Amino acid sequence: MDHFCYHGDTLFCEDVSLSHIAQQVGTPFYCYSEATLLHHLAVFGEAFAGYPHLVCYSVKANSNLAVLDALVRHGAGLDVVSGGELFRGQKVGCAANKMVFSGVGKREDEIRAALQAGILMFNVESVAELHRINRVAGEMGLKAPVALRVNPDVDAKTHPHISTGLRRNKFGIPFGKALQVYRQAQRMPHLQVIGLDCHIGSQVTTINPFVEALKRVMELLKQLRGEGIPIRYLDLGGGLGIPYGQEESKIPPHPSLYAGALLQELQGSDLTLILEPGRVIVGNAGIFVVRVEYIKEGEEKNFIVTDGGMNDMMRPALYDAYHTILPVQRHFSDDEMVADVVGPICESSDFFARERLLPRFEEGDLLAVRSTGAYGFTMSSNYNSRPRVAEVMVRGGAFQVIRRRETLEQLVENEALFAPLAGEGV
Ligand code: LLP
Repeated sequence: MDHFCYHGDTLFCEDVSLSHIAQQVGTPFYCYSEATLLHHLAVFGEAFAGYPHLVCYSVKANSNLAVLDALVRHGAGLDVVSGGELFRGQKVGCAANKMVFSGVGKREDEIRAALQAGILMFNVESVAELHRINRVAGEMGLKAPVALRVNPDVDAKTHPHISTGLRRNKFGIPFGKALQVYRQAQRMPHLQVIGLDCHIGSQVTTINPFVEALKRVMELLKQLRGEGIPIRYLDLGGGLGIPYGQEESKIPPHPSLYAGALLQELQGSDLTLILEPGRVIVGNAGIFVVRVEYIKEGEEKNFIVTDGGMNDMMRPALYDAYHTILPVQRHFSDDEMVADVVGPICESSDFFARERLLPRFEEGDLLAVRSTGAYGFTMSSNYNSRPRVAEVMVRGGAFQVIRRRETLEQLVENEALFAPLAGEGV
């Protein structure tokens, strides 16, 4: 469910017309519906209501402060993967004991900052990282709370770039070695082993891989408890997929089905469950609005050239991802065209849609790329020296700019010319 609907022939976000926002802030821009965001958080949380749990929203999906603030104010914790994301969490006042720190390459300064903040736990991905966290915690006179992220070797059946739970992926501690690594961690003086973590991938559209992974993890948990290793937190990561509009029959499961299947496996176990959803919370709460610059009729194909590019929204370029495209203003005629929707970047992978049947767009029309609230803005870059776009949030009939469009000056403000060296003539 979301709040992007037509009122008459104009696409609205909640009660604000997207053409109106475009007039005010220019294009391109991302627009988020706060009501959709909060609805998704509530539905996800309610699905787990019967069991002690903490929803740690995965910041990487959309890290705008206004988005984090809305979620945190409504009870979410955060899953962070860098010092930058931790900083954002602190900025919006997220309680440190509701933040978990994941990721395969935590730097020493990031570990220090997280310990200083007092986070709930580190999800540790290697023996080398255990040693590092143990040393840093020792230097700080603390005990670091840790979970081990185990790799259950389960096929999440998603795009290879976003599959993480297979033996060949770089993530997690190999399942067969987990027990031994747990024993090692138990012996480290500055660690407190409190959790078990696994995450198998993203945009997972069936329940089975999650259940399979959980079954494996529960076996391990039994062994750990048998050895007196007191696991209190079970973190099952994120990964639940969302509909992008082309699925037909294969619609990803509703959070209540996903939760139901997991909770069935957990019956009778006294744990606190941690979940790290990202996409399912923000994906369909955001839309990317661009303007048609040119209609270009090629020899083989038609191209709709927009002012948004792969630097602004790179999911199609990177994963060949499908995103529904809608006209912001529906025309009266039902004339259609088959076209590629592309950006101005000097790469052939700069596209939002390929050979798509679309309304007959014209120069100056606005078009909306749907389901771009997750991994849209956060993966954007300045490639081709394009300033990063604006982000807007809508609440009912009001909208606010939650990130200003970058200026050309901001584009170069951290750069410097190489200054003449001492003794060099000018
Ligand atoms: N937890 C961990 C440890 C993760 O690595 C991820 C995502 C999540 C949670 C959140 O997963 P979600 O619920 O959003 O699926 N850029 C890609 C997705 C990369 C996902 C990386 N990890 C895309 O645009 O599809």
